[in-house]
Amino acid sequence: MVRRGILICRHLEDVSQRAAELFVQLADEAISAKGRFAVALSGGSTPRALYTLLASDSFRDRVTWPKVHLFWGDERCVPPDHPDSNYHMARESLLDQVPIPQENVHRMPAEQEDHERAAADYEETLQTFFGLKPGQLPRFDLILLGMGEDGHTASLFPGTLALKVTDRLVAANYVEKLKAQRLTLTVPVINNAATVVFLISGASKARVLKDVLEGQYDPMRLPSQLIRPSEGRLIFIVDHAARCASLLPP
Ligand code: 6PG
Repeated sequence: MVRRGILICRHLEDVSQRAAELFVQLADEAISAKGRFAVALSGGSTPRALYTLLASDSFRDRVTWPKVHLFWGDERCVPPDHPDSNYHMARESLLDQVPIPQENVHRMPAEQEDHERAAADYEETLQTFFGLKPGQLPRFDLILLGMGEDGHTASLFPGTLALKVTDRLVAANYVEKLKAQRLTLTVPVINNAATVVFLISGASKARVLKDVLEGQYDPMRLPSQLIRPSEGRLIFIVDHAARCASLLPP
């Protein structure tokens, strides 16, 4: 049974504020229960405001960063210092501003020429960290996701091969429309998380958000519909422009 909630905020700043409060709460709960908090960060532009807020005076000291382990939900196959790198964006907006030990930052090795090898290496990173036997899935405490205007999430793009990968934790995924190679967590990994949060902002997402939430189930066309945590919570934190614009009569 998927437990799904939608929080509608006034604008991106409120989306980031709510997400930061949730991050702190989930971190406290996980660290109290297990001594660590395992999070997969989203890429793209929307979460930059959240990462900046988490690194700010308002939030930085509310998280026990030495107990936090950061992973990525997906990565562009570029060097880690490339402006398109999701790691680079998180480094600039968060990692360089908070006291998280370097060994707690588990970057996807997406710069590797051999993308399948890179995916396998990251799978090994997950298996080691979560102490998994072959065939077992990691259970992240939190996975942050965005949504593209085409309904993609992480690097699970419409019509791409990674949508159907269920026997691996990480997939290399060629995205024809971008003429680009990506690495991405697979759907089973995301759906095994305790909490999955979509951060969605802007009127440009209104149509696709309505299709994903209320349209026909068509995951090859709308991959975000694949995200249905089996034993976890699914939370959409969206701004008014992204949610209500699509509900207004034409
Ligand atoms: C990426 C992201 C991707 C992103 C969406 C939304 O690597 O680009 O992981 O899934 O979340 O494309 O991106 P924006 O937040 O920039 O709209």
